[in-house]
Amino acid sequence: PGNAGSPAPAPAALQSPPRRPAPRARLALLGALLAAVLAASRHSVGQGPAQESALKALGTEGLFLFSSLDTDQDMRLSPEEFKPIAEKLTGTERRDKCSTTELHPQIFSFLKRCVLILLWSTLTASYEEEELPLNPSEETLTIEARFQPLLPETMTKSKDGFLGVSRLALSGLRNWTTAASPSAVFAARHFRPFLPPQGQELGEPWWIIPSELSVFTGYLSNNRFYPPPPKGKEVIIHRLLSMFHPRPFVKTRFAPQGAVACLTAVSDSYYTVMFRIHAEFQLSEPPDFPFWFSPGQFTGHIILSKDATHIRDFRLFVPNHRSLNVDMEWLYGASESSSMEVDIGYIPQMELEATGPSVPSVILDEDGNMIDSRLPSGEPLQFVFEEIRWQQELSWEEAARRLEVAMYPFKKVTYLPFIEAFDRAKAENKLVHSILLWGALDDQSCSGRTLRETVLESSPILTLLNESFISTWSLVKELEDLQSNQENTSLRQLAGLHLEKYSFPVEMMICLPNGTVVHHINANYFLDITSMKPEDIEDNIFSFSSTFEDPSTATYMQFLKEGLRLGLPLLES
Ligand SMILES: *[C@@H]1O[C@H](CO)[C@@H](O)[C@H](O)[C@H]1NC(C)=O
Ligand SMILES: *[C@@H]1O[C@H](CO)[C@@H](O)[C@H](O)[C@H]1NC(C)=O
Ligand SMILES: *[C@@H]1O[C@H](CO)[C@@H](O)[C@H](O)[C@H]1NC(C)=O
Ligand SMILES: *[C@@H]1O[C@H](CO)[C@@H](O)[C@H](O)[C@H]1NC(C)=O
Repeated sequence: PGNAGSPAPAPAALQSPPRRPAPRARLALLGALLAAVLAASRHSVGQGPAQESALKALGTEGLFLFSSLDTDQDMRLSPEEFKPIAEKLTGTERRDKCSTTELHPQIFSFLKRCVLILLWSTLTASYEEEELPLNPSEETLTIEARFQPLLPETMTKSKDGFLGVSRLALSGLRNWTTAASPSAVFAARHFRPFLPPQGQELGEPWWIIPSELSVFTGYLSNNRFYPPPPKGKEVIIHRLLSMFHPRPFVKTRFAPQGAVACLTAVSDSYYTVMFRIHAEFQLSEPPDFPFWFSPGQFTGHIILSKDATHIRDFRLFVPNHRSLNVDMEWLYGASESSSMEVDIGYIPQMELEATGPSVPSVILDEDGNMIDSRLPSGEPLQFVFEEIRWQQELSWEEAARRLEVAMYPFKKVTYLPFIEAFDRAKAENKLVHSILLWGALDDQSCSGRTLRETVLESSPILTLLNESFISTWSLVKELEDLQSNQENTSLRQLAGLHLEKYSFPVEMMICLPNGTVVHHINANYFLDITSMKPEDIEDNIFSFSSTFEDPSTATYMQFLKEGLRLGLPLLES
């Protein structure tokens, strides 16, 4: 479809605040009209049958209206074709001189919002074309979803009983208690996007879905409800994630977005591929405000034949070994910037797994006759699978690390667990560079993203950290647990020294090996003093590559150097 290529305009004008009921009569008419167009767009697939289904969905009048808009008769409303009606509804159409009816401003903005939502749905309605049809001669596998809802008591805002959070805001989250489809059948072929590019080396990451975000593109709008139509390799990932919830966005609003993979084992005819996907879900629908649910990451592996005609194993899951693994952000007002709530929480289980290897749905006997792969008794035939002899293998930990570095270049420097970092610092007589934050630093459930996207991955910083510091990061909650539950008093004291210097949301610290903090800076303060105004970026854009030094890198450099100046003399010599 011609309109699937370019991303649909983010409905910026959704920002108008029309949440009040509007006069009934006009809205009823409008509602009917919107429903008709919406239904038409949903059902407009292909030609002949589309006519029929459109007639069924819209009735004669609705189809007539639809056809009058669909000037190229492709049974689909392109944005151009949609424009006349959008203009009519929003009143931006040039008016006749004698036109008298002016819309009340509130109704006007309500209409505008409806039209934008509608326009959006029209553009995204081409999903159904991206259906993954099955062919009876190929192998299929069944994938099951296992889902346990987020534990509300793990959210920070639960501490005061969700005071000040409207029930409406959380209704999408509360309602999401089961997987949208507990089980689904896929063809082996649908997993082709997981195949490595020609000549890919073991352990060398490649992007299944590359990130399209950069410092210059910023992030994608929060004010959206429906994902854009998935294209190409996004289709399978979209379909898989749809098993959890109907509105997955395979590209996150914030960097690093996308899906990255690496080969962890190779045999004569099979690959094992491990992957990491950053995706999120929209839990609200109009007229509520958007609610974003962003798991830290989806990871997993697939074992597939080199021609993707057979899948031996598949698993995808949200890691649940840390105490928090989901970031949630929701709007509670019309303005995207001023009315955003943030929280993090813990989801115990979100997992997809193949029930077994893919098997052919029909089998040919010696005479070439098709036989069903189920016995007359209804029992499936037992298949025997050849044993795979792996020739090259990479450990799971190493593969996970490489995927992590591909997503987060700042991870080129090792960040050790808290206690280990101080043990190491003692052994090597070095200072500790420690980041203490409310959310995790190395996944998407995070309050540290601004930090890692800029300073922590810049090369002078990486070099200095690598040479002169032992680095670590921790969640506030982890240190609080250490402080209250740990029997070893020196570890309790270590955690206490850290927490003493912490303020929300992120604190960067330089410490002696015995835990004394010699220098620290709060991330909000840091961002305030380093933030560039848009004009500055414009002015500097041409010199960026050569001489221009990004102010946050320079400031972080200064912070580290000051830490060295204060800390080095105190190290035991
Ligand atoms: C939640 O579920 C209730 C009852 O099934 C339904 O009325 C409501 O619309 C749902 N809310 C959302 C946001 O899905
Ligand atoms: C860190 O230092 C080690 C040894 O000095 C070196 O091998 C490695 O490449 C360095 N890494 C980075 C990211 O600079
Ligand atoms: C407490 O923990 C530290 C650091 O791991 C260790 O060196 C020390 O031996 C422990 N002390 C006790 C009494 O277990
Ligand atoms: C850590 O060492 C420094 C320098 O030797 C000392 O001033 C400080 O009191 C020590 N801190 C603790 C908690 O032992």
